[in-house]
Amino acid sequence: MTVPGRDQTPALLQVEAILSRISGRQALQEVCRFLRRSFPHYPWVGVYRLDGETLVLDAWDGAQATEHTRIPVGRGICGQAVREDRTVIVDDVRADPNYLACFLETRAEVVVPIRLEGRVVGEIDIDGNAVRAFDASDRQFLESVAARLGPAVDLSGAALPTA
Ligand code: SME
Repeated sequence: MTVPGRDQTPALLQVEAILSRISGRQALQEVCRFLRRSFPHYPWVGVYRLDGETLVLDAWDGAQATEHTRIPVGRGICGQAVREDRTVIVDDVRADPNYLACFLETRAEVVVPIRLEGRVVGEIDIDGNAVRAFDASDRQFLESVAARLGPAVDLSGAALPTA
């Protein structure tokens, strides 16, 4: 018998339910959709996969597509999170010289590394439309989500089946 841990919030349980049902890029897509739909302060949610020294946008959900579908490690907030191997929260993107602009409405951003067996394989990137949109609770929740996404990101980068 198992007892749910303290980090087993209903939202996290739903992420786990998605990951138990589908895998790879389809799962990432569904998790992006779920996060955006569940949290109004997550208007754009994406998952980048680390391919060598480049972040590749594998899944996203939001009102608009971004032009930044490939980001070199070290560029932007996305590249910074990988280089520094840590969650980066930017309270006001207009005050951060690293920020790569995507959408006019974006005022804050959170980027959370996704790891598999200890190494970074990708990241969750969320744009918010208010200054200080993200706090410690977002960090804690998104790090818990990221901790479950490693296998899906890994599979997302594998060659697509031909059948
Ligand atoms: N703003 C990001 C680029 C990606 S878009 O937000 C989707 C950055 O500074 O790395």
